Amino acid sequence: MAANRFNAFTDYGIGIGLRVPHYQHILSQHPVVDWFEVISENYMVDGGRPLAVLDQILEQYRIVQHGVSMYFGSADRLNKEHLRRLKALTRRTKTPWLTDHLCWGSVDGRYTHDLLPMPYTWEAAKITAEKIRQVQDYLEIPVNVENVSSYAEFHISEMTEWQFLTEVVERADCGILLDVNNIYVSSMNHNFNPQEYVDFVPADRVAQIHIAGHSRFEKYLLDTHDHPVLDPVWDLYARAIQRCGPTATLLEWDDSIPSFEEVHAEALKANRFLSIVKSDGNTTPVCEGVR
Ligand SMILES: [Fe+2]
Repeated sequence: MAANRFNAFTDYGIGIGLRVPHYQHILSQHPVVDWFEVISENYMVDGGRPLAVLDQILEQYRIVQHGVSMYFGSADRLNKEHLRRLKALTRRTKTPWLTDHLCWGSVDGRYTHDLLPMPYTWEAAKITAEKIRQVQDYLEIPVNVENVSSYAEFHISEMTEWQFLTEVVERADCGILLDVNNIYVSSMNHNFNPQEYVDFVPADRVAQIHIAGHSRFEKYLLDTHDHPVLDPVWDLYARAIQRCGPTATLLEWDDSIPSFEEVHAEALKANRFLSIVKSDGNTTPVCEGVR
């Protein structure tokens, strides 16, 4: 399947998040990894060990930057100092694109450090898209927006989450980081069909996919990123790449982090699905029963 203009980086393959417990292993053993995702905010500093390690990683590996504090959906104006530091880091890492979340998290310059769900209204879509455009214009690299997991909804919403995501990215003319674990978690918490979500989003804008593990509690699912990917999420992943074609894929594992080898082996399980899409030109259904 031909790459679209947002996922033309299909040769990026399968990556994992760069995490502190793995620094020593990576720098001493030089494992073969397609790419690492770094949290931008961890390296937006003037010096010290984080940047020293990052520079060593950059000598051998491709890096993609992922942010956690842009808050495209906040009504606040963009933080110019944050953007200036972010742009400097993108020049350092040569990240091919930048990702951050479709959420809000700040009011009057005070930051919650949470990824809070949006009200799915036309007005919110318009304001959010305008901020994404401003960021994309300033950074001069593609921006891909990620759907978050959520645990609350707004009564004032005028559309579904997947309609909102689509409205935002089309207004902003940006790409999507489709987190299929987040879709699954939210679908169970809010009682919608996760396959309908995956089938609706504009496949030609999906530039990257996140997979991760979550935890099940009595009345809700929590996006914990602390164990392997669960089967329903692999099913959604298969469905997504069937629609989008081979797409840069990233496993998130952020808590109770096991050895580097274990994390990498879990990420590489995505190859079972990617190889089918690549070999048959995306014509064979791969949604169920592939494992
Ligand atoms: Fe994610």
